[in-house]
Amino acid sequence: MRIFCEKDYVSLSRRAADIIIGAVNKKPDCVLGLATGSTPIGVYDMLSSACAAGKVSFARVRTVNLDEYMGLAAGDPASYRAFMNEHLFRRIDIDIANTHIPDASAGDENIRCARYDALIESLGGVDLQLLGIGRNGHIGFNEPSPYFSVGTHEAELSQSTRRANAAFFGNDENAVPKSAITMGIGSIMKARSILLLASGEAKREALTRAVRGNVDPMVPASVLQLHGDVSVICDFQID
Ligand code: PGA
Repeated sequence: MRIFCEKDYVSLSRRAADIIIGAVNKKPDCVLGLATGSTPIGVYDMLSSACAAGKVSFARVRTVNLDEYMGLAAGDPASYRAFMNEHLFRRIDIDIANTHIPDASAGDENIRCARYDALIESLGGVDLQLLGIGRNGHIGFNEPSPYFSVGTHEAELSQSTRRANAAFFGNDENAVPKSAITMGIGSIMKARSILLLASGEAKREALTRAVRGNVDPMVPASVLQLHGDVSVICDFQID
């Protein structure tokens, strides 16, 4: 595990964007695992600028996102599909048909989850997975739990996660969906390379427990200690 403590959010975003640009330039048809939330917005801005400047092309890249809220209408501006379109996909030269988000529509949950896992397999697996971390140590919507989840599944969101995401729902915690469909810990661990971002003091405790504490499903990100190729980028110091 490589840990980069950057001086600020811009430097964090710059380092992460450079790693992603390097991966795409090395393998132009790579599969990127992408994340939503406040943390990667700076990275997505830099990827968009680099693409506009001709420094990278996403024309052959395929993407799979970590998660999507349940219960939102198709096209809801708070959906992660809308987030990705706005912050990245519309601003780069990617073929939107090559961008994938878990299917949170109504219907058999097991079938929809199995289809997403099969899709990732059919793309050849994820080359580089971008992750944020929740204040409770979650990755994707894999909340603290007595065990590590395996594949894509429907997950109930914790109160702290719903509170943290209220900003995207007019600061109304009760408007945040109660569940989501998310890639599992097992799916995330299958990525060939992982990039974990943590920005702001509020993430210090969770990140410290994840990288310095025991591997424990009550701190889901701690599982990354068992992966052979993880870069952690934060904008605060950790001991
Ligand atoms: P944030 O979310 O980037 O909005 O802090 C990260 C996460 O909860 O995974």
